Amino acid sequence: MTDSHSTSPSLENLLHETRAFPPSPEFAAQANAQPSMYDEAAADRVEFWARQARELVSWKTPFTQTLDWSGAPVAKWFADGTLNAAYNAVDRHVEAGLGDRVAIHFEGEPGDTRTVTYADLQREVSRAANALATLGVESGDRVVIYLPMLVESVVAMLACARLGAAHSVVFGGFSADALRSRIADAGAKLVITADGGYRRGAPSALKPAVDAALAAKEGEPATTVEHVLVVRRTEQDVEWTQGRDVWWHEAVEAADTFHEPAWVDAEHPLFILYTSGTTGKPKGILHTTGGYLTQTAFTHKNVFDLQAESDVYWCTADIGWVTGHSYIVYGPLLNGATQVIYEGTPDTPHRGRWWEIVQKYGVSIFYTAPTAIRACMKWGEEIPAEFDLSSLRVLGSVGEPINPEAWMWYRRVIGSDRTPIVDTWWQTETGAIMISPLPGVTATKPGSAQVPLPGIAATVVDDEANPVPDGGGGYLVLSEPWPSMLRGIWGDLQRFKDTYWSRFPGIYFAGDGAKKDEDGDIWLLGRVDDVMNVSGHRLSTTEIESALVSNELVAEAAVVGAADDVSGQAVVAFVILRGEHADEAGTDEGSARIEKTLRDHVAQEIGPIAKPKRILVVAELPKTRSGKIMRRLLRDVAENREVGDATTLADSSVMNLIQAGLAKPAED
Ligand code: WT7
Repeated sequence: MTDSHSTSPSLENLLHETRAFPPSPEFAAQANAQPSMYDEAAADRVEFWARQARELVSWKTPFTQTLDWSGAPVAKWFADGTLNAAYNAVDRHVEAGLGDRVAIHFEGEPGDTRTVTYADLQREVSRAANALATLGVESGDRVVIYLPMLVESVVAMLACARLGAAHSVVFGGFSADALRSRIADAGAKLVITADGGYRRGAPSALKPAVDAALAAKEGEPATTVEHVLVVRRTEQDVEWTQGRDVWWHEAVEAADTFHEPAWVDAEHPLFILYTSGTTGKPKGILHTTGGYLTQTAFTHKNVFDLQAESDVYWCTADIGWVTGHSYIVYGPLLNGATQVIYEGTPDTPHRGRWWEIVQKYGVSIFYTAPTAIRACMKWGEEIPAEFDLSSLRVLGSVGEPINPEAWMWYRRVIGSDRTPIVDTWWQTETGAIMISPLPGVTATKPGSAQVPLPGIAATVVDDEANPVPDGGGGYLVLSEPWPSMLRGIWGDLQRFKDTYWSRFPGIYFAGDGAKKDEDGDIWLLGRVDDVMNVSGHRLSTTEIESALVSNELVAEAAVVGAADDVSGQAVVAFVILRGEHADEAGTDEGSARIEKTLRDHVAQEIGPIAKPKRILVVAELPKTRSGKIMRRLLRDVAENREVGDATTLADSSVMNLIQAGLAKPAED
């Protein structure tokens, strides 16, 4: 039922070589997580979360109601409590006497550094909140943040939260067009950006994309954006729109360092984060305050075993993704962690940069994606061997299935054959980790995310929603509400219901295929819908297809995710050219030109991350009699496999045609 590819664990191959690593007694003796948590949560799941909410979050007004599921599928958690997310992340630590603790060790790509304590962060966030207020931002507004990985990115998010304004962070790798549609959908009042950032040793620009995204366009309503706040990072010249654009440093430096946080209801929107779905239009995933903070703090503390006084934590994600929201900004800061934030890529100026940073700061907890681990495997283990990695004690993985080979390499080469590895399954929609080992409690097993966390009801079901027995496969579902669950899709309640709650009425359908092994541990097997996972980033086949057909060269397009050694999946596009261009593809030169034009076009429409790795020009696409493209067959072609069952094709000769036409191997 699920499409397997080389990097997702094939259960058959794995079970015999699976080896579990039990927790060491020393680790177990000091671990935050305790075996009793599973029993407590099983005895009363709702009360378990209420206890976490009281313990880990500071409330202005304590809540008296825990869960209200009467408006399902829109949950209310801790609804009559009031609080502020920025106060929880920053001020309360300063009030507790921890103002001198380092919150952030910032490492810029060019090698510049900055150390920010919790007291510094309190002043910066308060000033930024005052600056935003001066620009007209109020509780309930939306602010789009389009920034590289900077201290200001964290400050900007927290400043919004302090005012009760929802932030919507757009990954800096998205194009002006993608930014434009997100700004419009969110109805943002303010955009916070930078002149640019450093990437691969050179400054790259960001502000021009904002200018393009805000430019008037025929047939579209005028933008809701009143101001653009610009962080200066690279000293690049920027175009300036008088009256609209404001320098961050001028506005923030002029602002007062005291700001009274806005005390909001637990269900007040905290952020909207856009993610790809099965249709062309990205979904604005809405998260609210109290439940989200509770579960991000709980999971960060227990899944990573954070010891706030001694650990140095580092998550390599970008704040443009949910991992950055939950495990750079909210989870770690709520727990008073000291963390590293790094602006650049792992291979600049050399392929040991990450390990050099681990050594420099004595990083003890490290959280990254399988695709990065596989890239490091390719570069060779002699590179990490040059650095002292002995400070590491917990390693995490997220974003895609981790193949057991990469898991074993991660443990052996990075973790000195000693550290637990937590393979954490979750989604933008779930807000926080849902399935993961608990270090010190559960044994860890290469390739398996293993068990639902205490208080989480995750299971694998068949087509009729019956739970599968151990050893069986099916769909991953969540059968009970959880605190950090999405509260909807911004502005589209119906789509929220249709996407997640209609496949199996009353239970949440995650879109992932999964299996249970004989121990009852869960193995994630990849998406079962038209969503691809490229380097841990979620991309929609339909969205890329729409981008391709919006180019005048293209008549029709079909996109598949094909197995890739490093990125997990790679985008492969099959296109039919419009009649007048069809001949151009006949020559090598012509087809190279077409490929380049189309790849650039996708980068412009969506962003460089969505660029197809291969574009194959074909005369026809395989379709069923009802006209549905059979992507499964195209994936066979893209993965150089024998084409599977094609009996439901309307025209069974199509696959022969496609393969004959593609006899010459296409290259990136
Ligand atoms: C999809 C969610 C979770 C933050 C980063 C991605 C896949 C995520 C795992 C894992 C196997 C995983 C799933 C999921 N995924 N973590 N540990 N093992 N697959 O967030 O962009 O919302 O994507 O990523 O397919 O549905 P996202």
